[in-house]
Amino acid sequence: MRKKLLLGNWKMNKTPAEAKEFALAAGEMVDFAVAHDIEVGVAPTFVCLTTVKENINPKCIVAAQNCNEHASGAYTGEVSIGMLKACGISWVILGHSERREYNGETSEACNAKIKALLANDMVPVYCCGESLETFDKGETKKWVAEQIRTGLAGLTPEEAAKVVIAYEPIWAIGTGRSASKEIAEDTIGFIRRTLRELFGNVAVDMRILYGGSVKPTNVREYMSAEDIDGALVGGASLDPVSYKGLIEGMVA
Ligand code: 13P
Repeated sequence: MRKKLLLGNWKMNKTPAEAKEFALAAGEMVDFAVAHDIEVGVAPTFVCLTTVKENINPKCIVAAQNCNEHASGAYTGEVSIGMLKACGISWVILGHSERREYNGETSEACNAKIKALLANDMVPVYCCGESLETFDKGETKKWVAEQIRTGLAGLTPEEAAKVVIAYEPIWAIGTGRSASKEIAEDTIGFIRRTLRELFGNVAVDMRILYGGSVKPTNVREYMSAEDIDGALVGGASLDPVSYKGLIEGMVA
């Protein structure tokens, strides 16, 4: 049985003071989610991780939005997995389309990070998704399969089982144009079949999230799809009232 997961990706938003305000406001809603068997989390920027971790309900996952695969050294501007662990962080989002576009993050680079995270008992949330051009050409599945095969290359089934996948069509991110439940369901079902080909039966228990203009008003529809195990939410995760609306929408 796959537990539903709501993860808020705060992207480059909130100062530590603003992040603390959210963390303090989130206590009861996190309890409410957990009582309904829903896992919840937020992914603040690096500079807010400690503040959020120290002030939020301990049942809330606090995730980073990136990491470096090297243990330490001359990597200016980077943050290691060991540093995140020392801050009590055990989840990391990888391969978000914005990082792929603006920071040149490739599926190969994600693969190295995923392996390093798993070696440190951390949970990678690996993002995949196609551009509007690829979608319009009808090549979504080919594109996403390649991202999955490369990003998860060399993992054992036991390792793959620990990875959370997020399918985020780029044309649906921050545009207000969400993918229909049918499109999301079709691609996520395909991703699960791809995972099954690669890793066998563990794919049945792997969680695959949908992301892209998820709101309190449409989250319930996605959750009604058999293969969709939760949501990776940007804009609608920033405000505690809206975040609470997302949780309520996820409660069956
Ligand atoms: P929006 O929910 O703002 O469309 O962002 C989705 C996303 O990119 C989450 O990682």
